[in-house]
Parts: sequence; C-alpha cells; structure tokens
Amino acid sequence: MTIIVCPNCSRKHHADTSKVAAKKRFVVRCKACEHKFLINLDNNDGVQPTPAAAAPAPTSPQPAAGMSEPQATGERKTPRKICVSLSKGGVGKTTTAVSLSAGLAMAGYKVLLIDTDTQGQSSFMLGKKPPAGLTELLTGELTPKETIFEARPNLWLLSGGRSLAGVKRIIDKKSFGSEWTLSEALDSIDKDYDYVIIDTSPGWDQLTVNVLFYATEVLTPVSLEVMSLHGLAEFTKNLHAIKKYKDIDLNYILPTFLDTRVEQPKNIYRKLQSLYGDKVCTPIRYDEQLSRSPSHGETIFEFLPDGDGAADYAALVRTISRNKMILLGDTKNHDETVVPSL
Ligand SMILES: Nc1ncnc2c1ncn2[C@@H]1O[C@H](COP(=O)(O)OP(=O)(O)O)[C@@H](O)[C@H]1O
Ligand SMILES: [Mg+2]
Repeated sequence: MTIIVCPNCSRKHHADTSKVAAKKRFVVRCKACEHKFLINLDNNDGVQPTPAAAAPAPTSPQPAAGMSEPQATGERKTPRKICVSLSKGGVGKTTTAVSLSAGLAMAGYKVLLIDTDTQGQSSFMLGKKPPAGLTELLTGELTPKETIFEARPNLWLLSGGRSLAGVKRIIDKKSFGSEWTLSEALDSIDKDYDYVIIDTSPGWDQLTVNVLFYATEVLTPVSLEVMSLHGLAEFTKNLHAIKKYKDIDLNYILPTFLDTRVEQPKNIYRKLQSLYGDKVCTPIRYDEQLSRSPSHGETIFEFLPDGDGAADYAALVRTISRNKMILLGDTKNHDETVVPSL
C-alpha cells in the first residue's frame, strides 16, 4: 500500500500500486475532487505524483553522430509551428508529420509533435502508448508537463486519440474564441521547442480550424493522383476563408506516393509544379518500407536508414529546416536524383 496525495485538493488516498506495477506511468482520478493526475513510479516510488518527471524539460539538443550542427537552436523565442494538413485521408499526413519530426529531432532540433487526430496514429508510428495527451491538456485536467512525453531524444509527443471527439464537442459549444482553444493551451509551453509539428485528421472540423489558427506554416501532402488535386483545391479554398481572420498560407506542397514507373503520377507532379511553383517540394516516392515501419514502432530513419523513404524524408527535413548539411550521413542524398528523372 502506498499513499497518493492529490495535487489539487491534497486529499490522501491509500492505493495498492502493485496492481499496476507493470505500468510505470498511469493517470489516476481523485475520488474527492475528480482531479486527474499522473503517477510516475519510475521517479518517486509511486507515492507522490511528480508532473515534471513525466516530461523532462527539453535539454540542449545534441546533434546525432555524424550529423552537422543545426543552424538554429536555443536562442529562438518562438518555434516554427508547421501543420501537416489536407482534408483528404490516406495521402501521407501522419507518415510525413512523424518522419519530419523524427528527422528534425535527429538533426538536433527540439521538436514537439502534436497529434490532433482521433485515430492517434502518431503514437503508434513511434511505438508509444502515452497515458495522457492532447485531450487532457485541452480539457485542463492535466498540466502540459503531465501530457507531453519524450518519444525519442529531442522529440516530444502530445498524443491524440479517440477521446479527442469529446474535446471537439466542448470546443463547438464555446460561445467566444473557440478557434483559439489550442493556441491558448500551448501558449505557455511551445517556446521550449524549435519546431512544433501538428498532424491533423482528414476532414474539416473545429479542431482543424484550431490547428490553422495556431500554426504559422502549412505543409500539405498530396498523393499523386487526380482526386488529390481536387482535395487540394478544396483545402486551399477553406484556407482562404481562414485568411480573413488569421495570416496563414499554404507554404509547402509535398507530392507523395510517387511511382516513377507510371506516367500519370509524373503528369500530376508537373501539373502541381505549374500551379504552385516553388512551393512544391521534392516528392516522396512510393516505398513499401514506409508502410511497414509503423508496425515495428520505428521511424523510417530507424527502420531502414539507407532506403528510399528515409532519403526522401531527409530531403524534406533539409528543405524545411533550410539547412542543406543535415541528415546526409546515413541516408542517400536524393535531392538531385528524384526530380530530374521525371
Ligand atoms: N510514400 C509511401 N509509400 C508507401 N506507403 C506509404 C507512403 N506514405 C504513407 N504510406 C502508407 O500509406 C498509409 C496512409 O498513410 P498516412 O500517413 O496514415 O496518411 P494520412 O495520415 O494522410 O491518412 C499508411 O499505411 C502509410 O504507412
Ligand atoms: Mg493520419
């Protein structure tokens, strides 16, 4: 038996933590005041909740072995907040959000990955099952530090999941300023990071609007098929509607699922270039390993560092960070080879 003290009402509870000993971190609810909080048995024998222990404050970033020092760390007051969005599903949003975050973190940047999708795939792709996440942050049940978990060196995760459906209803019911709910919740914490990458759900709802009110840049993966072009046109229209209230633009278009053996994807890629010019990034090729790595809980850089998927996402990391010197070590450099072959 141990005694757990509620940090909200100071009520002491007797608890048998041996029953949950297999799980080192878990969320409990105080029977007296209904406050939810995190227990971390690793850090204090499970007697006292220590929020700070759940999400250690980001430390100085260390470039991975063989990587170059990133240009911008430490000094930045505001992070770059990049959302990965398109209303259409299955275009590679989550794969891109996770791979981009992992690549930036490997290069030494401090990254917060936020999953705003009810499917909660980002945690799965990183092989993590955090006991709390964005829902508890937005409802105010837990503090930011209790909801953010270190998934890899330099990479912190604020996970999504099914419970976000309830949050959407809460946001919908707000009379004023509902679009700023996410921004307000993240205001006190995002300055600890160089990048905040936000994965979004397909469709268009209050949470998507909240993400676009929070983000400063938009990255849109477009799978190279005709339907995706329609999806992109629709998304651009919605983005334009938000522009009346918030300065936001489509900054990067990332062609995905490129199959160089077939003519149609190449035509669509050229069409994207003619419509969007410099915003179009080096494409991500179709690579089966990208769909296999999540079931191993590994990022593509861990699963197959010298494969096509890792090379293409490393190129994206260089484009986004505007640092041509990073992630050249373990991955092939495909910046030059992919495009001219089209
Ligand atoms: N370039 C790619 N090549 C092959 N499979 C991919 C590629 N990108 C993503 N996938 C796979 O396609 C599926 C949909 O990707 P996902 O990132 O979940 O899309 P979204 O988040 O837009 O719904 C997943 O199974 C993923 O592993
Ligand atoms: Mg997704």
